[in-house]
Amino acid sequence: MNAHHLLEVEHLTVTFPTSRGDVDVVKDISFTVDGGQTIGIVGESGSGKSMTSLAVMGLLPRGGRLQGSIRLKGEDLVGRTDRQLRRIRGDRIGMVFQDPLSSLNPYYTVGLQIEEAYRAHRGGSKKQARKVAIEALQRVQITDAERRVNHYPHQFSGGMRQRIMIAMATALEPDVLIADEPTTALDVTVQAQILELLADLQDATGMGMIFITHDLAVVSEIADHVLVMRNGDQIEQGTAQAVFSRTTQPYTRSLLDAVPRIDDVVGTLKEIGE
Ligand SMILES: Nc1ncnc2c1ncn2[C@@H]1O[C@H](COP(=O)(O)OP(=O)(O)O)[C@@H](O)[C@H]1O
Ligand SMILES: [Mg+2]
Repeated sequence: MNAHHLLEVEHLTVTFPTSRGDVDVVKDISFTVDGGQTIGIVGESGSGKSMTSLAVMGLLPRGGRLQGSIRLKGEDLVGRTDRQLRRIRGDRIGMVFQDPLSSLNPYYTVGLQIEEAYRAHRGGSKKQARKVAIEALQRVQITDAERRVNHYPHQFSGGMRQRIMIAMATALEPDVLIADEPTTALDVTVQAQILELLADLQDATGMGMIFITHDLAVVSEIADHVLVMRNGDQIEQGTAQAVFSRTTQPYTRSLLDAVPRIDDVVGTLKEIGE
C-alpha cells in the first residue's frame, strides 16, 4: 500500500459479544484518506458506519474488539493505550457528531470548552487559549465571536451549535476530521451552509475528511470518494461519480432510488451554496 496516504484502514473488523455469540458489525473494511480528500461512508441505518468511525478514533463501546490495521501518517493506531489515543483524538483526529448537545457541556461557556480542549493538548496560557477559541469561532463564521465566546450552548441555535462543534473539532487543526451525520438534524438550508463551511475549512487546512451519512444527496455534494456499507460489509467503493452514475450494485441502486428526485435535491443544495 502507498506509504503516503494520510489515513489507511486495512481489513477492519469490529466484533461484539452477544448472548448468541460474537457478532461482526464491521467486516473487513479497507479504505484510505488523503489530505484534502473526503471519503463519504454511506449505508442504511445499522450498516456499521458509526462503528467504523468509532474504531478509527479508538472509541468503540465497551465489549467491542477490532482486528485489522489503522494507520495515521504511517503510524499504527491499533494497540495504543487509552492515554495515547486520547492524545491523538481532538489533536490529530477531530470529531463531529449528529447531536452537538450530547458533546457540549451545558454548564460551561463554549469558549471555556474550546480553551480546555486546546490547553489539554497544547498547554499554554489562558490568554493564548482564549485567542485560539475566538479564532476558532471566527473560522466557522460565528459573528461577534469575542462576545459569543462567553455564551453557553443553549444560547445558540441548532445550526450554530453544530458550527461550535466544528470549531472545537478543528481548533487544533487536525489531520483528519470525522463527521458522523453532522447535518442530519438540521434543516436543508442550514445543512447546505454547514457543508459549505466544511468544504471551506478543508480547502484552508488540507485536512482529510470522513463524512458519514445515510443521505446520498449530501454525500454526492461533499465526497470525492464513496464507500457503500450494508450489514457491516463493504458493498463497493470508488469515486463519487463512478458510484453514483455507474453503480452495478443493486443495493447502491436501491439507496439511490430511495432518494426522490436526487438531482433536484443536489441542485437545490448547489443553489443555496452559491
Ligand atoms: N454497544 C453495542 N454492542 C453491540 N452491538 C452494537 C452496539 N452498538 C451498536 N451495535 C450494532 O452494531 C451495528 C452497526 O451499528 P452502527 O455502526 O451504529 O450503524 P450505523 O451508524 O450505520 O447506523 C448495528 O447492528 C448495531 O445494532
Ligand atoms: Mg450511525
